[in-house]
Amino acid sequence: MTNIKTVFVTGGAGYIGSHCVLSLLEAGYNVVAIDNFVNSVEQQESAASLDRVSRITGKKIIFYKCDLLDIQQLDDIFNKHQFDCVIHFAAMKSVGESIKQPLMYYKNNIVGAMNLLDVMAAHECYQLVFSSSCTVYGNPIFLPITEDHPIGNVTNVYGRTKYFIEEILKDSVNSDPKWNVISLRYFNPVGAHSSGLIGEDPTKNFSNLMPYIALVALGKKPTLSIFGGDYETPDGTGIRDYIHVMDLAEGHVAALKKLQSKQSHLEVFNLGSGQGTSVLEFVQTFENVTGVKVPYIIEARREGDIGSMYANCDLARTKLGWTAKYTLDDICRDFWRWQSLNPNGYKGNSITSTNGDTCH
Ligand code: UD1
Repeated sequence: MTNIKTVFVTGGAGYIGSHCVLSLLEAGYNVVAIDNFVNSVEQQESAASLDRVSRITGKKIIFYKCDLLDIQQLDDIFNKHQFDCVIHFAAMKSVGESIKQPLMYYKNNIVGAMNLLDVMAAHECYQLVFSSSCTVYGNPIFLPITEDHPIGNVTNVYGRTKYFIEEILKDSVNSDPKWNVISLRYFNPVGAHSSGLIGEDPTKNFSNLMPYIALVALGKKPTLSIFGGDYETPDGTGIRDYIHVMDLAEGHVAALKKLQSKQSHLEVFNLGSGQGTSVLEFVQTFENVTGVKVPYIIEARREGDIGSMYANCDLARTKLGWTAKYTLDDICRDFWRWQSLNPNGYKGNSITSTNGDTCH
């Protein structure tokens, strides 16, 4: 049993990272976060998202601008602080970009993860929560997907980086029982914190549904392109498992508690809502909840897309004591609050923290 007090969060300024930092602070953990802002629209020196998390919680976060490829800086940070656990979010995440620039993705995501594992071992920090994805399952053989569904038949480079890192973790744990690792396979994270102060700030390479709904709802794009109306689903559009980002964040707190209570070596959990929702159902719910119209056109299928994907989350319920609580209505309401209060994301809303400083 290890008492976890201080958590090192990589990719802490990002969409999922910042919401998770908020949940960690509220659960009483100390947080030191890093980010290299690779997924930001503009390069920045400090973390507007984490400044706002500090504002919401009234708690401090120590932040460093740091790239996992800079192993020296990483080591310096581990020399300055004593970490009981690491949550590893930092990664490049655009599917399309990953196919065009595979080596950049392998280097950033895989070498980055290996540097992190090296530095953790050198500092005798062996507890890790890894941010994996349902993309490791590839085209589903059965639904809902359980954790024992085969993995690895992945169709894009981004997904393969997640799969390869899971394999690296498995080998590391097998080679040294000191490692205590939980890998969380996210389904489709959406929504925002209910304050409206933090949320997803779409990047230059985004392709996900919710940011596109936002563009149309904000009048920045005339219509939403729905990719495929001929899938074998009740209304012909693709079905996914959308999970509120705060539910996802709470899943990480539950994972930390599990690591704390028991040596788990390597455990894997799906984090989803367990519900399948079609693109049309999503758009209709958004319109009902917000009163904002989202005109759409049904177009050809997007290359590489699958018809249906949703999770069985029984394992997380029984072993982590976690279930998703927010509804699709909550997701749309919280997302729209964030979008309408911050139509340009964090842009223009600065920024007080600098390297190694606390966010205020
Ligand atoms: C995508 C990634 C996946 C990643 C996940 C993270 C691909 C092929 N896969 O999954 O690796 O883990 O995001 O959330 O990109 N849609 C539209 N119009 C749009 C955008 C999306 O109709 O403008 C549809 C898609 O066809 C799909 C659904 O909305 O049916 C969800 O799409 P998206 O948000 O891109 O997520 P995934 O495709 O599930």
